[in-house]
Amino acid sequence: MPKVKGKAKGKSKGKGGKPKEAKGKGAKGGGDGGKAFPLEKGPTPSKLEPSQISRLYKLPDGKMKTEDDVLEANNYKLEEKLGEGGFAIVYFARNKKSNQKHACKVMKLGGDWKDSRVEDMKNELFIMEKVKHLYIVKLMHHFLTQSKANGIRLYIFMELADGGDFSKFCQKKGAMTENDCKPYFAQIICGINHMHSLGIAHRDIKLQNVLMVKNEKSVSGDFTLLVSDFGLSRIIHHDGGGSIALNRTICGTPLFMAPEILLRKPYSGFLVDVWALGVTLFIMMTLELPFDFHDEGKAIKDMVARNWKWPTGKMKAAPSNDLKNYMSSMLEPESNKRLTMPQVLDHKWCSAQFKKAQVMANKK
Ligand SMILES: Nc1ncnc2c1ncn2[C@@H]1O[C@H](COP(=O)(O)OP(=O)(O)O)[C@@H](O)[C@H]1O
Ligand SMILES: [Mg+2]
Repeated sequence: MPKVKGKAKGKSKGKGGKPKEAKGKGAKGGGDGGKAFPLEKGPTPSKLEPSQISRLYKLPDGKMKTEDDVLEANNYKLEEKLGEGGFAIVYFARNKKSNQKHACKVMKLGGDWKDSRVEDMKNELFIMEKVKHLYIVKLMHHFLTQSKANGIRLYIFMELADGGDFSKFCQKKGAMTENDCKPYFAQIICGINHMHSLGIAHRDIKLQNVLMVKNEKSVSGDFTLLVSDFGLSRIIHHDGGGSIALNRTICGTPLFMAPEILLRKPYSGFLVDVWALGVTLFIMMTLELPFDFHDEGKAIKDMVARNWKWPTGKMKAAPSNDLKNYMSSMLEPESNKRLTMPQVLDHKWCSAQFKKAQVMANKK
């Protein structure tokens, strides 16, 4: 299993430390299969004041002096660490009133509200509020604190994923057979499709950002998979002419990045998600990466030349023709020829499992 390092929340910064998010020439239909996504009607997160996004405690405030006092007032107690990412630490959290177990993501946002991390935070919360789905981690509660000692912090309480993250699960399980793999992949694409149907691109799809909850009744018979970590997710706006504004922000994890991002071209957030899904599936099937990033320049050349191969010696069996076709259509370097999300769902390799996963999601 390749160690997927280098959490690149590093973005190409424009002036003032803000990530550049320029409009490219809108690709017709955004490469999204011509499907019209709903226009974002409400205010965009960046226009909202932090106090409009979450409850803000300025410390010290009356009886509350520290962040722990605020946690106490919200009936939460943080216990052991569950995981860590670029800017956040995730703890096991107990709600003392209901005795429910949750996870709490604590994000340190620096000393002032102009920090670019505050922008990411606004997006993350705004999007978590919007997406409610069986295969997406649920938001329970949140608040902000601000103190001289610790600066600004965001506390996001969410559904606890008691099965840990999918990357560790895959490492333990080893390369999967196609039949084992399908019900897991189907849950991931079902969750991502829900986001896309709301006009939101995830932009940081990778195995570590998929969490697991034990559930014998899930399509895979063991875990429900939850898409998580919306720190880089964005609402994709229409540019007025029915086309979708393209992103320019360099984000995500290089190993899962589509060639158009690495080549600094404007890109569709939806189609870079499809590429990252291709890389995710490749790792599930092989525990290998499709491209060798020891030399990034060579990796990009290989992507563009479609120069990758199945490490059949590391797989349970040789890939079927359907899987070969599915993978090469997701790892298609020309984004306008890549599978669109509706085609990812509809492809022979996974459509039956996807439909089952969707029936379960609709029951909820
Ligand atoms: N709801 C949760 N339940 C259990 N563990 C979680 C939960 N959310 C996150 N984690 C763990 O914490 C890690 C970091 O969380 P993530 O949201 O991805 O943070 P970052 O934005 O810093 O990458 C995850 O990879 C996972 O191991
Ligand atoms: Mg993460």
